[in-house]
Amino acid sequence: MFLGLDIGTGGTRAVLVSADGQVVASASSEHAPFRSPYPGWAEQDPEDWWRAAQEAIRGALALVPGAKVEAVGLTGQMHGAVLLDKNGDVLRPSLIWCDQRTGPQCDWLHAQIGRERLIELTANPALPNFTLTKILWVREHEPEIFARIAHILCPKDYVRYRLTGTYAIDVQEASGTLLLDVAHRRWSSEVARISGVPESWLPELFESPEVCAKISGEAASLTGVAAGTPVVAGAGDQGAGAVGMGILEPGSVSATIGTSGVVFAATAAPTRDRLGRLHTFCHAVPGRWHVMGVTQAAGLSLRWLRETFMPGSTYDDMTAAAAKIAPGSDGLLWTPYLLGERTPHLDSEATAAFVGITAGHTSAHFVRAVLEGVAYSLKDTFTLFAELGIPVKGVRLGGGGARGRLWREIQAAIYGYPCDVLVAEEGGAFGAALLAGVGAKAWPDLEAACAAGITVAEQIVPDPAAIQRYAVGYEAYRKVYPALKGIKG
Ligand code: XUL
Repeated sequence: MFLGLDIGTGGTRAVLVSADGQVVASASSEHAPFRSPYPGWAEQDPEDWWRAAQEAIRGALALVPGAKVEAVGLTGQMHGAVLLDKNGDVLRPSLIWCDQRTGPQCDWLHAQIGRERLIELTANPALPNFTLTKILWVREHEPEIFARIAHILCPKDYVRYRLTGTYAIDVQEASGTLLLDVAHRRWSSEVARISGVPESWLPELFESPEVCAKISGEAASLTGVAAGTPVVAGAGDQGAGAVGMGILEPGSVSATIGTSGVVFAATAAPTRDRLGRLHTFCHAVPGRWHVMGVTQAAGLSLRWLRETFMPGSTYDDMTAAAAKIAPGSDGLLWTPYLLGERTPHLDSEATAAFVGITAGHTSAHFVRAVLEGVAYSLKDTFTLFAELGIPVKGVRLGGGGARGRLWREIQAAIYGYPCDVLVAEEGGAFGAALLAGVGAKAWPDLEAACAAGITVAEQIVPDPAAIQRYAVGYEAYRKVYPALKGIKG
């Protein structure tokens, strides 16, 4: 049995996966909500992740009496900065992935290194999400804490440290720190030197399925996983989630709509976007890379619409009404920039809009326009893939956005590809367990692990008339952001 552990933002989830790739048990434990004492700040306590991890592991093991865990895989929210002193004690709460306070540190990095040179070295420009910018904020605002740093970890790697006593990270997660030479899968001495981060602070790098540590005696008594059980490096939530959906081969692509939306493509080489509109990271598959585009408010757009204007409606009611409206929502468009936007605009100040409202539009039109607008936004990433020559051979839909038929069909028609939907989608914790299984040699490689555990339920083939209608809608959608940029009431 393999244990996958996902240290998310809202909570930690543990899954147990059998040697034939099936989820046999899962348990979760919530985290305290992140603290935001000032607009744009987001902090969590690493100790709370560790408490939730212990509870989730014990909860999953309790469901399968006598289960023997052969290996453990970790995944979780990416980019957070966990700062430790020389004794391994946490120095301050972690600035997590969605903390937006580090714009000035991004500007500083671009001024010091040059934006293009930074993209050459790390494959990505500086964004407030990335770990290095958070470390630089601490240097500027809390020099007494900065002076005591001896180790830097990301969230799941801190939980690994508590489980094993080892400081380690995988190359996929490390790509999101802005300190990795993504093309060569090693730390970038140049970026570390220029930004004043001693390389001795950085954990040892591993490929995702590699065994890098063993459960300690103390963690064994706290979790119930036997001392000495191997722990693989794992991957950030996007990397492990992709493994859990079978996105391994160059050309395979997933489009996942959760709170945010991600279009993720596995690639054979580190394909950089000169303008930095996509993230280019090492994949959890050794020797491969991935690119991804992020829509900040994907599922969040629909939740916002419901909570703001249709309280009491269920998502099923809303989509049943929207299914009666023709593709194109009779000219109504939604641009989903409720939380600014990452791809393709990299504009944290962008705002959302409904455009083209007439007296003929009903609430059902607004629901359909939101479903379409979110898919147009994910389509922007497919457009960048085409621009950069990134092949798309097959698309899999995931997240809440793949659960209802209408949103599946809208996505397939807007992306313009037949899209597969999986029988069960178990998310990052499942991918982390598959990585653990490969590390324990239960499967020879990730391809074999995914073949054992992942089954396609259905292929959604888009309707040619809808494809045509949406091609027109997408052209209109693309004009909205530049036309409205900067306008506020
Ligand atoms: C990836 C990203 C999110 C976080 C939180 O770039 O920001 O996926 O890892 O889930």
